[in-house]
Amino acid sequence: MGGKRHFRVWRGDESGGELQDYQVEVNEGEVVLDVIHRLQATDAPDLACRWNCKAGKCGSCSMEINGMPKLGCMTRMSTFEENETVTVTPLRTFPIIRDLVTDVSFNYEKARETPAFAPPADLAPGEYRMQQVDVERSQEFRKCIECFLCQNTCHVVRDHEENKQAFAGPRYFIRAAELDMHPLDAKTDRKEYAQAEQGLGFCNITKCCTEVCPEHIKITDNAIIPMKERVVDRRYDPLVWLGSKIFRRPMTETVGHGETSVLGAVHAQPKGGVHSHAGGSHDPHAEAEAQRGVNWHRQVPKPTVPPVDEHGRLPLTELTFDRPAAPSPFGDDVTFPMPVEHLNYAHPEQDEKKH
Ligand code: SF4
Ligand code: SF4
Ligand code: FES
Repeated sequence: MGGKRHFRVWRGDESGGELQDYQVEVNEGEVVLDVIHRLQATDAPDLACRWNCKAGKCGSCSMEINGMPKLGCMTRMSTFEENETVTVTPLRTFPIIRDLVTDVSFNYEKARETPAFAPPADLAPGEYRMQQVDVERSQEFRKCIECFLCQNTCHVVRDHEENKQAFAGPRYFIRAAELDMHPLDAKTDRKEYAQAEQGLGFCNITKCCTEVCPEHIKITDNAIIPMKERVVDRRYDPLVWLGSKIFRRPMTETVGHGETSVLGAVHAQPKGGVHSHAGGSHDPHAEAEAQRGVNWHRQVPKPTVPPVDEHGRLPLTELTFDRPAAPSPFGDDVTFPMPVEHLNYAHPEQDEKKH
């Protein structure tokens, strides 16, 4: 199947651009990323494209190929007709930096906002034990390579820039679901947090995210739908509500004016209420439920290094940064594990900091 093939590649930057036509050599067994590399070596040496592993594992080479969000390195040329034009465009949901490279820092911000794994207070690292069945259940979500194809595909943000602030996206719903299923995670309100803070209610389970996931993670069936069902059960099923009143201690207890205890931790609640989209609901009960168990007053450290320079381009940090390696996308000032006052879940040590 060797010979020249017709490619159309979007060229441009944040100020605009257009599709450019190329006739390029394609050899047997090649993938779209090979052809992009050949273009860089021949007709378009300044064509910008992100890639790293060429093995479908780093998640860097995300692009839209004939309108479908795909990994360039996993899309075989043999899947196209011999005379078919292959059109390659950048991810549409994220701002353009140049050519096929987009600014995906939206996803890093959402990652940073997602509460981390909360280990049990009475266990030291090394003492954690869990059943194999629990490991396997969340293992599916750990396969995520952070290609952000699902984030790019989801119509909630693809066509509505204004939703980005309120919506974390399918990649972070699977993170919430994974931790919700984790038997050693001491934060018990993952679903409520997903509903109140991550915008789970915006998702109308179209399954487009599942369709494009190169790791074949069943994002909608195994993460989003179970979380939605459990949020609804907990809030609206009268039997579940009655059962929780009769048999179970409530997840949070009011311990004083403006304070709420969550599994022993105490957090001040904001005065005058807190904005929460609670899945787009304005139901005050749902809002109040959704806010339980979240440290609303956490300090959020700001990155000290901007992700892009004033021209919207990524800095050549390997050359210009004042120490080896690039700054962390989580911010140069962030240390891990994060200080407890920066966490937005009920960490047991948050109590100790107050006294
Ligand atoms: S299922 Fe939900 S998260 Fe996935 S693409 Fe559809 S609306 Fe977005
Ligand atoms: S869930 Fe799938 S599509 Fe989404 S970022 Fe992870 S690997 Fe990519
Ligand atoms: S280059 Fe790593 S996933 Fe394509």
